[in-house]
Order: sequence, then C-alpha cells, then structure tokens
Amino acid sequence: MRDPADFIRRNTALHEPPLIPEIRLHLASEIVPIWQMTEEELQENGLPPPFWAFAWAGGQALSRYILDNPDVVSGKNVLDFGSGSGLIGIAAKMAGARSVLCADIDVFAEQAIILNAAENQTSLTATTEDLVGGENRGWQVILVGDMCYEGPLAARIEAWLRRLVSEGVEVLIGDPGRTYLPKSGLEKLVSYAVKTTRELEDSDVRNTSVWRLLAV
Ligand SMILES: C[S@@+](CC[C@H](N)C(=O)[O-])C[C@H]1O[C@@H](n2cnc3c(N)ncnc32)[C@H](O)[C@@H]1O
Repeated sequence: MRDPADFIRRNTALHEPPLIPEIRLHLASEIVPIWQMTEEELQENGLPPPFWAFAWAGGQALSRYILDNPDVVSGKNVLDFGSGSGLIGIAAKMAGARSVLCADIDVFAEQAIILNAAENQTSLTATTEDLVGGENRGWQVILVGDMCYEGPLAARIEAWLRRLVSEGVEVLIGDPGRTYLPKSGLEKLVSYAVKTTRELEDSDVRNTSVWRLLAV
C-alpha cells in the first residue's frame, strides 16, 4: 500500500459539508470511483466503502449541534467514536473541548482525520484501536455519528455505550433514522434537514436527529 495520506490527497477535494460551512474536509464527490480505487490500493476486493471520504448526515447533525451548543463539550475530554473524516472531533475541538480522541478502525480514516484536523488548524489525537467493550479512559462526552448502519456492530456499540452512560458519561448520537438506531432509551435533542446526495442516501435531504443515550 502506498502512503494513505498521499492517496487521500490525490483522490479527494476540499469541501465544506452543507450543514457545517466552518469546517473543510478532504471529501470524495462520488462513491464508486473512490471505493474502487481504495480496493485497488489495498489490492483487496469486498472492502467496506471508504466512509472517511464522506460527511455523513448523522455526523453533520451532531457537529452542528456541538458548534451551536459548545457547553456540551467545552473544557471536557471527548471521544469521537467511529470518526470517519473526523468531522465531529474537529467540531468538538473548535467548540472548546479540552481533548479529543478520534477512534476509527480504518487506517485510511486515521490519516483522513489527521489531514482534516490540520486543514482546520485543530489538534486532536487519532487511533485505529477498537475501543468497543473497553473501560472509560477519562472521557466525559462520547460523540457517535451515523454508526447504526449494521446490526451486529450497532448491538455491540449500544451495550458498551449504555454501560458508560450508567457510569456517568454523556453519550450523544447523530442519526438520520438508520435501521439499527435503538428504538428506546433515547432522548431527542434537536433535528435538522441535512442536504445529502442521492448517490449515498437515495434522497436529497435526510431528516437527522441528535439523541442523548440513556442508561436503560
Ligand atoms: C458511516 S461512518 C460515520 C463517520 C462519521 N462519524 C460521520 O458521521 O461522518 C462509520 C464509521 O465507523 C467506523 N467503524 C466501524 N466499526 C468501528 C469500530 N469498531 N470502532 C471504530 N470505528 C468503527 C467505520 O470505519 C466508519 O468510518
């Protein structure tokens, strides 16, 4: 594999997500070409799509909420879980978080996070470690953007996050009504109409909410 940072620079362009004009990210304009190029780069077929190359509706909604309500993260240690591009983590840092750890198991995402943080003059840390099921490492707030797209993954994440909520962590989820969003134990905070592309979402706009996860 060539340098992932070089791959990202060559195959994306800098764009502001529609709901977050204050942040610029390395994003792809179309999913199929970048997906094929990622597979060629890694010489492996059947890889998951390059999630890091898009600003997902859930991530945009959660980022908007944090930027408009900085008290949620200001002065706090924050985990952006399933970061993709790092959009939410960057928003949290801009809103005054003391520290931000962006966690995504995809090595390309880790590089995209680092490049995107630098592009927006923010300093944060990125990891590819799978944190699901582990102990709280001092996080006061965990931000989760658009992670309810796959059943087994969503179930693992939900059990882990509910335990951390019961230990006193604030967990906020941005989600456009994906299939595996928990059906109960959520408090809705706000909703946004997020502009999306038909290629990704089969729709030009997704009604997307920010939820507080409850312990039960
Ligand atoms: C749909 S994307 C959302 C990205 C970003 N939060 C946003 O809203 O734009 C989901 C991301 O979760 C990551 N992911 C999947 N399983 C994970 C795990 N166990 N730990 C951390 N990240 C994971 C994927 O690699 C992908 O980047």
